[in-house]
Amino acid sequence: MQGPTRRDSLILGAGLMLAGAAPARVPGAQDSLDALARTRGMRFGSAVAWGPPRSDTGSFANPNYAALIARDCGVIVAENEMKWQALRPSPTTFDFARFDAIVAYAAAARLAVRGHNLIWHQPKWMPHWAESHDYGATPKREAARLLGDHIRTVVRRYGTRIADYDVVNEAVNPADGTLYETTLSRALGGAEPTLDLAFRTARAEAPHARLVYNDYMSWEPGNERHRAGVLRLLHGFRARGVPVDALGVQSHLITIGADARASVSRMQGDWRRFLDEVVAMGFGLVVTELDVRDNALPADPVARDRIVADYTRGYLDVTLGYQQVSDILVWGMSDRYSWIEGFEPRADGARRRPTLYDTAFAPKPMRAAVADAIRAAPARTPQRSERREI
Ligand code: G3I
Repeated sequence: MQGPTRRDSLILGAGLMLAGAAPARVPGAQDSLDALARTRGMRFGSAVAWGPPRSDTGSFANPNYAALIARDCGVIVAENEMKWQALRPSPTTFDFARFDAIVAYAAAARLAVRGHNLIWHQPKWMPHWAESHDYGATPKREAARLLGDHIRTVVRRYGTRIADYDVVNEAVNPADGTLYETTLSRALGGAEPTLDLAFRTARAEAPHARLVYNDYMSWEPGNERHRAGVLRLLHGFRARGVPVDALGVQSHLITIGADARASVSRMQGDWRRFLDEVVAMGFGLVVTELDVRDNALPADPVARDRIVADYTRGYLDVTLGYQQVSDILVWGMSDRYSWIEGFEPRADGARRRPTLYDTAFAPKPMRAAVADAIRAAPARTPQRSERREI
């Protein structure tokens, strides 16, 4: 496998230079969401991207965005830069330059880093070459080598700088609750042994790290099969003694009408039953990717922001009531860079408003709702939110 190239060094150097310029996090700044979260035994953070210096992106290299991270975050996660599609240009090479720059920035800014992800087990999110890879005469051995080498290489490179991995991301098909298959899993003998090997390899290489299964099953109507499939997968992990410590609850909320109170009241029962079953199996919980897709809401920003904030508060009041929740991360700090705008634009053409800060980096009611929900949450007792020994 190829080591760092000159390009790597240039990008890493830029990252380190920028990291040096990163506004130092002000631990305990009075209005910091992370400082507030730590009073309840949790951490607050956000996804960040790699970007060219001073670019208009959701990157740490954008001073406006870096200021939001410095104000509110104690932990970050790379939006894309640690994924196979970013790290693996070919079956025999890695390109760590951009993720290295994010990790360097985090170190300079004294931020923890979540690793997302060691495999996103769906054909569309594997590198193009993976689906046509030749697994040779002993496909099971080659598939195990390919997966194991990837995880070992990534985890060894960062060591204890990363203490929290989304080992597997979104392996359950929400349509029917079954597990996705890929050419890798078909070569390795099926999805279950593939996911199990990912977790066992991560545990062996990173005994210090909390290992997370991350998925977007949610509380809205229509998520029933997805939640059931995730529960089946988690029960299976426990039955096979697979080292999984926590469930990553992505929390990509979708509003289903202007009456937040009525919607929250309708959805919370199923959500509590789901979380009850997860924690009864001994799993921790991590809110990993919170944002709010403002569907079926008026275009008016003031009215829409208020309703988005009310959904956020209602969801977090239920979810943070579980002391197993250790971290709350949002999937981006500003509407300016949210993935949702490109993924599902509003039918009325009004710009999406899914995050804590607007496109001009001004705080929105959703940020106050997160702060209020954290204040109202019970303080964690340490053993509840720590990694569980298997
Ligand atoms: O970097 C390339 C660029 O070189 C190229 O010119 C451009 C056009 O093809 O694509 C760029 O890569 C894009 C990447 O985002 C970086 O912008 C990919 O096409 C695009 O698919 C990718 O989308 C990301 C998506 O995951 C798929 O990886 C989103 O930004 C990201 O927000 C989203 O995040 C996911 C979590 O990882 C898992 N949970 C759901 C969440 C939202 O979908």
